[in-house]
Amino acid sequence: MKTLLAHLTGLYGPSGKEEAVRQAIQQEIKDYVDEIHEDVMGNLIAVKKGNGSGRKVMLAAHMDQIGLIVTNIDENGFLRFSNIGGVSPFNVLHRRVVFQNGVTGAVSYETELEEIKNLKLNKMYIDIGAASREEAKKLVQIGDIAVYHAPMADRENRFFGCAMDDRAGCAVLVETIKAVKNSPNELFFVFTVQEEVGLRGARTSAYSINPDIGISLDVTITGDTPKSRPMAINLGDGPAVKVKDSSLICHPMVKNLMIQRAEEAGIPYQLEVLEAGGTDSGAIHLSREGVPSGVISIPCRYVHSAHEMVDKNDLENAVKLLTRILENEIA
Ligand code: ZN
Ligand code: CO
Repeated sequence: MKTLLAHLTGLYGPSGKEEAVRQAIQQEIKDYVDEIHEDVMGNLIAVKKGNGSGRKVMLAAHMDQIGLIVTNIDENGFLRFSNIGGVSPFNVLHRRVVFQNGVTGAVSYETELEEIKNLKLNKMYIDIGAASREEAKKLVQIGDIAVYHAPMADRENRFFGCAMDDRAGCAVLVETIKAVKNSPNELFFVFTVQEEVGLRGARTSAYSINPDIGISLDVTITGDTPKSRPMAINLGDGPAVKVKDSSLICHPMVKNLMIQRAEEAGIPYQLEVLEAGGTDSGAIHLSREGVPSGVISIPCRYVHSAHEMVDKNDLENAVKLLTRILENEIA
C-alpha cells in the first residue's frame, strides 16, 4: 500500500490532465480484470465479470487533483492563476508547485495587501524564476496547470503528501481489484476524471454503465486536530460510511449494507456527515432514473493542502470492507 500510494500521489494529474495516473493504474490492474478501456472523457473503466447471478455495481474513485491554472503572464515573468477545484489562498501560499513539464515555481502574493485575511487568489502569483515575459513563455503557456510539489512522507501508519484526495481512494480500488476473488456481481471499477471541477467523469460513466448500485471511494475531513471544527471522524478509527454530504444523501440500502458487512466482519467503521463538499456518488445517484448509491470515505487531515494525511489501517480496512461487500449478494 505504501509503495503504491507514494507512486500514485507523486504523479501529475490535475482535472482534465489525468493521463499519467490513468497509465499507472492501468499497468497495476490489467492482469486482474476481464476488460479494461478508456472512455471519451478519459475515465478508466475496468470490469470484473462475476458469475452473472448478482447485481451490476459501479465503483468510483477520482484520479484528478486540484491545481492552479495560468491565466496571465506579466512583463516581469510572474504568472497569475485561477483555481482548478477547491484551492484556498492560505493552502497555496508559499508552497512549491510543479507544471507537467517539470517547471517548478513558488506561490506568493502582493505584500501591500493590508490584511492577510483578505488574501484572494487574484492577489497571488507563481514565480518560476523567469526574469521576463519572454523567458517565462518559453517554460509555461496560458492554460498550463501547476500542482503541489510534495513527495509523500510517512511515519508508522501515517502517510502524508499531496493528492491523497483521491489517489488514496484509487489505491483502495486497486487493492480491492486484486483482493476480490469470487463475486456474484458484475463489477465496474471506474477511475474517474474531473471530480474536483464538478463530478464530470462520474456523470458520463454512470450513464454508460447504467449500474444497479453505485459506491465511491473518496477522502473526508476529520475532527481530531487542535481546536478543529466538531466532526465525528478520527484518523485511524476506520473507514467512514457516509450518511450525507452536500452532493447526496446516501441510499439507506447501500448505507445499511456497508454497516452490516463491517459489523459482521468486525471491521472498524465510523459514520460520516460532511457539511460541505461532495463526491462522485453525487453524480452517480442522479444518473438516468436514479441509482442507489453510497460512499466509503477515507479519513484525511488537511484536505486540499500539500500535506493531506491518511492512516494505513483506514486504507486497509476500506479494502477489507469493500471486498466483503462485493464478494457477497447485494439486495
Ligand atoms: Zn476527492
Ligand atoms: Co477534493
